[in-house]
Amino acid sequence: MKRIIIVCSSTNHMLKADTILRERGLVVDLVPTPSQYGSICSTSILLEEIDKKSAEESLENTNIKFSIHPYETRKLTGLMEALKNQNISTAFQVVMNKIELGMDLTKEDILLLLKTESKKEIETLYGVADRLRREIVGDIVEIRAAIEFSNYCKKSCNYCGIRKGCDLPHRYRMEEDEILEAVKDILSLGIKTVILQSGEDDYYTTEKICSILRRIKKETKMGITLSIGERSREDYLKFREAGANNFLLKIETTNQEVFERIHPDNDFDQRLQCAKWLKELGYVNGSGNMIGLPGQTVEDIADDIVYYRDMGIHMIGIGPFIPAPGTPYENLPTGSVEMTLKAIAVTRIVCKNVFLPATTALASIDADGQRKALEVGANTIMLISTPDKYKKSYQLYKNKNMIDIQSAIDAVKGANRRLPKYLKVTSKEGI
Ligand code: 5AD
Repeated sequence: MKRIIIVCSSTNHMLKADTILRERGLVVDLVPTPSQYGSICSTSILLEEIDKKSAEESLENTNIKFSIHPYETRKLTGLMEALKNQNISTAFQVVMNKIELGMDLTKEDILLLLKTESKKEIETLYGVADRLRREIVGDIVEIRAAIEFSNYCKKSCNYCGIRKGCDLPHRYRMEEDEILEAVKDILSLGIKTVILQSGEDDYYTTEKICSILRRIKKETKMGITLSIGERSREDYLKFREAGANNFLLKIETTNQEVFERIHPDNDFDQRLQCAKWLKELGYVNGSGNMIGLPGQTVEDIADDIVYYRDMGIHMIGIGPFIPAPGTPYENLPTGSVEMTLKAIAVTRIVCKNVFLPATTALASIDADGQRKALEVGANTIMLISTPDKYKKSYQLYKNKNMIDIQSAIDAVKGANRRLPKYLKVTSKEGI
């Protein structure tokens, strides 16, 4: 089945075109724009080639600016040749062959990659992910910075160190002016995107959040990622209109049973609904999962990766589960570094043109974790830019690594990669 992709000149045009095509009865899907046609953060419309004519007719007399391209998956020429005479199983070779030809992997293929224990196969998996990362998103590691502006939370997620039930010595909320000050510190490093994260805290009403967003936009023009949990569709729309570009709402696991066990206050379908709203409102849509959750299987992780592809997710944060003191899960084992790295590698192979952060959680259980992630498909690092006096109170899990600009630079250099040009600091001395 041949497919085509409609690339529009703006998110608004894309959303308008999407509505028109759906109303016309065409089967369309929103996916991250393939790298040859646009930046990672843009979304395009995918449809079957047989619908090309009716799509063109539907969009003809509108003001929507668009172009149509064949939807070609990326091939990896020479892969099988390079794997000749290597000690890898036939089943693994079959999957590699599909990757070389640019074919979609099935859940079973993904599972096979995640499950391999062979040193040679793991090395091959990492190499393929790294090559795809280089060809699709290049060598630059994007640097983002997060302000964790409130550690109040109304939810009691069993794994989380700031859950409602936790008796924390210090709960804090940052006011608008304080947040703006922190945003400007980030701006002075040259960083272009700020992540505003908090517990689910109703103190920040829709109006309060919108006011913060508008001020950041007006005073800094930075890209804004919100990460404040589940809200109504109406709220998400208002945040978008007030200037939020990206939204990070992790699915954590796509296994409904595990999801509902670890989130006693949440409903899995509601979480999915929120992700769908974010998608239809034109957000650059962020998700992610934890590796090593109680009851989670490798099959579940394969399902998570299929979900990211099918939902057209743009940013995928994958980190190990880490027990947090004072939570019901404080004595559970920590997730595995290797499974986290494998999941990152497979996600790059399956999802292609996406932001894959080398997560803080990974850096918290392995001092070299971010460099390792950058070498197997990751291309983004998030700094913790919460003011010092609050930082230590935002302990989602034990020994959280407070990623600063220096540790980010070390990971980027260690992985032999490049810092973005916009960054104004390139060494400890501030040069
Ligand atoms: N271990 C690992 N990651 C955690 N997060 C929260 N608590 C933990 C934990 N105990 C992650 C979740 C959440 C993000 C903000 O932090 O994935 O979405």
